[in-house]
Amino acid sequence: MSIHKEVKKVTTHVLHNMKEKGEKIAMLTAYDYSMARIYDDAKIDVILVGDSASNVMAGHETTLPITLDQMIYHASSVIRAIKRALVVVDLPFGTYQGNSRKALESAIRIMKESGAHSVKLEGGEEIKESIVRILSAGIPVMGHLGLTPQSIYKFGTYQVRAKEEAEAQKLITEAKMLQDIGCFGLVLEKIPASLATEVSKQLHIPTIGIGAGSGTDGQVLVSHDLLGITKDFSPRFLRRYLSLYDDVKIAVEQYIQDVRDVDFPNEKEQY
Ligand code: KIV
Repeated sequence: MSIHKEVKKVTTHVLHNMKEKGEKIAMLTAYDYSMARIYDDAKIDVILVGDSASNVMAGHETTLPITLDQMIYHASSVIRAIKRALVVVDLPFGTYQGNSRKALESAIRIMKESGAHSVKLEGGEEIKESIVRILSAGIPVMGHLGLTPQSIYKFGTYQVRAKEEAEAQKLITEAKMLQDIGCFGLVLEKIPASLATEVSKQLHIPTIGIGAGSGTDGQVLVSHDLLGITKDFSPRFLRRYLSLYDDVKIAVEQYIQDVRDVDFPNEKEQY
């Protein structure tokens, strides 16, 4: 008789319970099979297939160019690696704003073609109808307020949002609205820590912060930043756990040298 160890999957309910128990949620972006496999093995709670793929995978300056097909490709690669984590996929720019029918079609394509568990949309009141429609199809939705990079040309800068009272009040109202219509969680990006703490206290759904201080129910980082693959991006909120850019460069330089010196392959490395 073989004994299979059941993997306890992270669901939206698990995240709610974690918030209730005061257990912090760890979320990280992933865009491919190999990295997602490592993060899942390390027991990350949530993997975000972020549209930051547009920046760190494709080299675009903003998140706007990435397409729905490209997001589905990344999400399917990630899903094939996952045994435990909840996978959230960003709906890319232009696939949900101003047209709730299109939003539902985009979300259904992500769920059907990638096997993802949920989607994330950026914005508040202006995308409420799209979120309601997606939720009505039984698709879990995570909200995203504060700095919403798909609106970079409206903001004009990646600076901290909601420092002024009016914008902070609007954010609190929209956070409650997102909770009331049924979002299972909310990303709060680059807002003052005191505001993020206040929102997290007022909501019963979990908040996940990035550049929003320690008072949120969890944290998310772009994995390329955490691993030090991106080199020129050093916002104050970022903690780098590795310097992979330098380490990989050193390894590749060594490989080049070994090939040139006919040191690689050696006798043991050939047939
Ligand atoms: O696309 C992304 O990586 C994100 C995170 C920064 C929250 O939305």
